[in-house]
Amino acid sequence: MATPTLTKLPRHLAIIMDGNGRWAQERNLSRIEGHRAGAESVRTIVRCCRRIGIPILTLYAFSKENWQRPKREVNALWRLLARYLQSELNEMLGNGIRLNTLGDINELPSSVGDLLYKTMAKTSGNREMILNLALNYSGRSEIVRAARHLAEACVAGAMRPEDVDEAAFARHLFTAGMADPDLLIRTSGEERISNFLLWQIAYTELYLSPVYWPDFREPQLMEALADYQRRERRFGKISEQLVKEA
Ligand code: IPE
Ligand code: IPE
Ligand code: MG
Repeated sequence: MATPTLTKLPRHLAIIMDGNGRWAQERNLSRIEGHRAGAESVRTIVRCCRRIGIPILTLYAFSKENWQRPKREVNALWRLLARYLQSELNEMLGNGIRLNTLGDINELPSSVGDLLYKTMAKTSGNREMILNLALNYSGRSEIVRAARHLAEACVAGAMRPEDVDEAAFARHLFTAGMADPDLLIRTSGEERISNFLLWQIAYTELYLSPVYWPDFREPQLMEALADYQRRERRFGKISEQLVKEA
């Protein structure tokens, strides 16, 4: 297993958890079985990130586009989320994990919504790690929502149009106050962003893994982190400048 150094870890790791359906199909199981196995990977990866000290973990769990899936599958995903929240609460409390959501969670079934609000309230004082679950999330609609908030503030006279800058914009995103992801992992071999964190990934390192999400566990995470640590992030500069700054 690759062993990343624990000093150059991403401050914010984001993951597009993909491939549950194909994992199941290959085993002649139902797609829902794939999601169940995927939930086990979530447990493992959250635990692992907390242990090694990644301060923010963001997981793409349900996109706005995912409502178009068969109702049975969508319902099963909400059931699995509810079960996850119930089974992990004590672990979140014991390990200083604060649950947060990205997305319009008021549009979720009320039973899941209630559970999310309760879990967020109970874990709100935790300081070791933030676990962001992106639920009913769309990067474009998040950007439009921020633009609308800023327009409203301008119309109300609370803000001048010339004060609308990148920092003001970022304050109206679901990730307000958080560092942008340093690393974005997508599993399952797909090479696309699927409307995830469009604003926040401007300079994020991308890691595309061929492994289906239910098979993405600690060794695969460690490999991704080690790969990330071998990269040079230039942010528009040239190598020589980075050496001087270091
Ligand atoms: C990711 O796995 C889970 C969600 C989108 C909720 P998929 O369900 O997309 O799996 P594939 O892509 O069909 O294999
Ligand atoms: C992206 O996966 C959304 C989540 C992981 C929740 P999808 O499987 O829905 O993505 P596309 O539609 O194939 O790009
Ligand atoms: Mg998919």
